Amino acid sequence: MCGIVGYIGKRDVAPLLLEGLQRLEYRGYDSAGVVITSPKATGLKMVKAKGRVRDLEARVPKRFTGTTGIAHTRWATHGAPSDENAHPHLDGENKVAVVHNGIIDNASELRAKLIADGVEFRSETDTEVLTHLIARSTAEKLEDRVREALRHIEGTYGIAVLHADFNDRIVVARNGSPVVLGIGEKEMFVASDVAALVSHTRQVVTLDDGEMATIKADDYRTYTTEGSRTSAEPTTVEWEAESYDMGGHDTYMHKEIFEQADAVDRVLRGRIDDRFSTVHLGGLNLDAHDARKVRRVKILGCGTSYHAGMIGAQMIEELARIPADAEPASEFRYRNAVVDPDTLYVAVSQSGETYDVLAAVQELKRKGARVFGVVNVVGSAIAREADAGVYVHAGPEVCVVSTKCFTNTTVAFGLLALHLGRIRDLSVSDGKRIIAGLRQLPAQIEQMLEREDEIKKLAQEFAEAKSMLFIGRVRGYPVAREASLKLKEVSYIHAEAYPASELKHGPLALIEPALPTVAIVPDDDLLEKNRAALEEIKARSGKILAVAHQEQEKADHTIVVPKNEDELDPILMGIPLQLLAYHTALALGRDIDKPRNLAKSVTVE
Ligand code: M6R
Repeated sequence: MCGIVGYIGKRDVAPLLLEGLQRLEYRGYDSAGVVITSPKATGLKMVKAKGRVRDLEARVPKRFTGTTGIAHTRWATHGAPSDENAHPHLDGENKVAVVHNGIIDNASELRAKLIADGVEFRSETDTEVLTHLIARSTAEKLEDRVREALRHIEGTYGIAVLHADFNDRIVVARNGSPVVLGIGEKEMFVASDVAALVSHTRQVVTLDDGEMATIKADDYRTYTTEGSRTSAEPTTVEWEAESYDMGGHDTYMHKEIFEQADAVDRVLRGRIDDRFSTVHLGGLNLDAHDARKVRRVKILGCGTSYHAGMIGAQMIEELARIPADAEPASEFRYRNAVVDPDTLYVAVSQSGETYDVLAAVQELKRKGARVFGVVNVVGSAIAREADAGVYVHAGPEVCVVSTKCFTNTTVAFGLLALHLGRIRDLSVSDGKRIIAGLRQLPAQIEQMLEREDEIKKLAQEFAEAKSMLFIGRVRGYPVAREASLKLKEVSYIHAEAYPASELKHGPLALIEPALPTVAIVPDDDLLEKNRAALEEIKARSGKILAVAHQEQEKADHTIVVPKNEDELDPILMGIPLQLLAYHTALALGRDIDKPRNLAKSVTVE
């Protein structure tokens, strides 16, 4: 989705902002722009362009110098991708420049009023409304002008404002869309995502909703939109700048798939308690007394995080014997669900910014529910909104398509399930068994990734398919769901996931040689049932790829995955299918890290 970068200091600002925009490219966008000034300048200089940051760069004139500026990558909501609709947006006198993430819900109403007052619009965006409102304010200070304008706005925003008459500062505000300040030595940064800052500073201040800030080269202050000062102590970002580099891989997706053994090692580190055959989850704030009172667990997430939640729900039921299920947060938030005080609600999100998940959390909290977060990005909106939670420590995930974060989230759920289980009825020996299984994961992931060449060959065949079916039963079903999503997102091949148990209730009609089936066949108590499904497909001349713990006779090919404990098997079984999706997309020449129409963080409805 949209990205914001800003800088004020002594350095030449344009190259800094363009570099920052490049670091935000992974979020997905359709146009970009930059506006700059400097203390001695009398006006603003702006360039914007439809397309990639490199298209913008090509348009930057030679003498485009300054020491203060804001920049943006846009994901179209109001108005098609175009030069005019790209941010920043200027007022009629070219004095106020605004970049904005989020959506202004009452933009058409405000636009109509402004037009009736004689304002001429240059774009179709909702953001331009805000620019004109700021420009029309007669308040003395820029901060008050912005504040006054924001009073008219309904909707979500993360904004940065530059004003030609106040060129010693940038004013920013947040409501529902992230804004992070980066504190440097006699220079300040602002961004919507720490990815744009970490190569310059690791000291950051994350604004809360309803908060604003003024940044100057050597100073910053934060306050509410009502004007009262807030305390904003900087925190240190753990993620290194190098984590955002490709590290010798051709794509981030490939790099992130291959980082999974280390990432899993991180989520386990320091959490296992061998003495009591359990785990410590520091951020959980749930004592044994409260944990015993949980009667149900409801997991909410979107896309891949939802699928990780499906696996998590099964682990919690199996290990802790608490009824648990997962639901897309995007559905849950609209269905006026019954909120039960004895249910533990768990919000799952890689980015911690997904609007549908955040909205579900806010609705739950409004109704008095207790909400835990299982989140990757430290300090993100969902992490802050949740009452407690578990960080998944996957490190920055840049590819739009989630891989390592899916795996780490499932491991984090394994830890949570074990923790709840050992407080309830899971025996010491079962606790030991699960801990041993968790410890085996990194080595087993390495083992599986060694089979890349075999999977690459298979992918060449699958690249010709028009559609694919993914099936799995119980533990295998969420794996099939996630594998199907991975394939369609990155290769654009149509894929459908179905419970293997439902085959004969309909999807069997689709089986023919041209429709390959990927079957998840773990060596668990349902092995024979799964084999029967393979027979049914084979009898109809369907082509089968099995992901299994042993060769499957009925399959045309089996990817053999190392066996772990039954409950933990789903964590591993998705990994070869991430590689399958990757190599299929590669064979088809897709834009792997930035699939069409998709964004990394879906911060709008
Ligand atoms: O950041 P989140 O985990 O909340 O994102 C949720 C989904 O938008 C995300 O998982 C999406 O499905 C990815 N493109 C999956 O690869």
